[in-house]
Amino acid sequence: MGAMTTLSEGAPVSVVGAGAMGAGIAQVAASAGHPVALVDAVSGVVEKAVAGIIGSLQRQEAKGRISSAQLEATVERITPVDAISQLPASALVIEAVREDLDTKRALFNELAERQSRETVLATNTSSLDVGAIAEGLPEPGRVIGLHFFNPPPVMRLVEVVRGRSSSPEVIEAAAGLVRTWGKTPVVCASTPGFIVNRVARPFYGEAQRMLMDGVADAATLDAALRSAGFRMGPLELTDLIGQDVNLAVGTSVWEQTGRDPRYAPTAMQQELVAAGHLGRKSGQGVYRYDPSGAPLDAEPDQARLAELLGGPVETDPVARTLAMLVNEAVDLVHRGEAGADDVDTAMTLGTNYPKGPIAWGREIGYAVVADQLAALDRAFPGGRYRPSSALSGEEA
Ligand SMILES: NC(=O)c1ccc[n+]([C@@H]2O[C@H](COP(=O)([O-])OP(=O)(O)OC[C@H]3O[C@@H](n4cnc5c(N)ncnc54)[C@H](O)[C@@H]3O)[C@@H](O)[C@H]2O)c1
Repeated sequence: MGAMTTLSEGAPVSVVGAGAMGAGIAQVAASAGHPVALVDAVSGVVEKAVAGIIGSLQRQEAKGRISSAQLEATVERITPVDAISQLPASALVIEAVREDLDTKRALFNELAERQSRETVLATNTSSLDVGAIAEGLPEPGRVIGLHFFNPPPVMRLVEVVRGRSSSPEVIEAAAGLVRTWGKTPVVCASTPGFIVNRVARPFYGEAQRMLMDGVADAATLDAALRSAGFRMGPLELTDLIGQDVNLAVGTSVWEQTGRDPRYAPTAMQQELVAAGHLGRKSGQGVYRYDPSGAPLDAEPDQARLAELLGGPVETDPVARTLAMLVNEAVDLVHRGEAGADDVDTAMTLGTNYPKGPIAWGREIGYAVVADQLAALDRAFPGGRYRPSSALSGEEA
């Protein structure tokens, strides 16, 4: 298939949508030596994006990471374009427009009409089905997901997403190309939340449930997870991400899995969002923040923490969260949606976990995890804690 050979180093790339993600992706591709055409539906956005890219490159130059010649060459490779109709012939088009299926389908239709049949068409969608975006297009095999993380110049992970009609050769070529950009690709199926946004769900959900049940206060729960090596606790992290943003991702995964109870959003988070307590950005979320942005009442209860850790799994924040993360990860692998190594790579690079959940599960022991989940399922029936059948086998 021709698309495999067109995705080479230095081949022309177009980026559609010059918002937060599109600008960052354009910077990454241009830094890697590709001529990049950048377009947005709204006038003035591309110029702003280019100014932002220059600022970002200047900061890299100031730190000595790139030379001034590299800075100039990178900026020169980026061409602002006024309309889709004016994009040059490209080996790869990466779409980073707003997260809406109809918008993306209309755009892909137009791109398919204007670009060669060999042009690889990639979407940066976080939550839409890649197969649905490709539906009805000529050569749907060249449509894939390239899910960058925010901010693209900094985050190493890229999920290379296989839609139901994506060609394996295109997936492989795209993963190879992304590697030449200094990124680490992981390949996964177009499953709700892909790898990172799926496997991470219980990290937030379990802490919210324990907080609602009065197991401990927020600061103590966060301290428990930090003691296991997580950079931030789940509750402080959702305050940083934004409760609204985190709820939207969780709700999307829940809806797309046919409202699987495993992903049901909590009443607590829905109430926070309804009350406008969105986290740091609104001055209040799970925590309240002083005007300087420091959390109030964030002192963990050390005695309670010591009591919980190593106790029954229902009230051990670490064991309970890890059991659910391991379950989610082995299930994804078991369904054939991603390889075990890619799941661990995705979670360590995409969310900064101290260890991949597959490796962590092997350390804890899958039989132990299965027993913990069975105990949780007895304590909280309803399907959320049903153990993956893979935990009783040797598959993951
Ligand atoms: N923000 C993140 O953290 C993040 C991370 C990964 C993936 N994504 C995904 O990346 C995509 C873009 O997200 P963002 O945060 O950069 O959004 P954004 O709102 O910052 O930028 C989107 C840009 O697309 C433009 N646009 C909208 N429709 C267009 C069209 N038909 N043609 C050309 N331009 C159009 C808008 O004018 C806007 O400038 C979404 O699909 C989102 O889900 C976002």
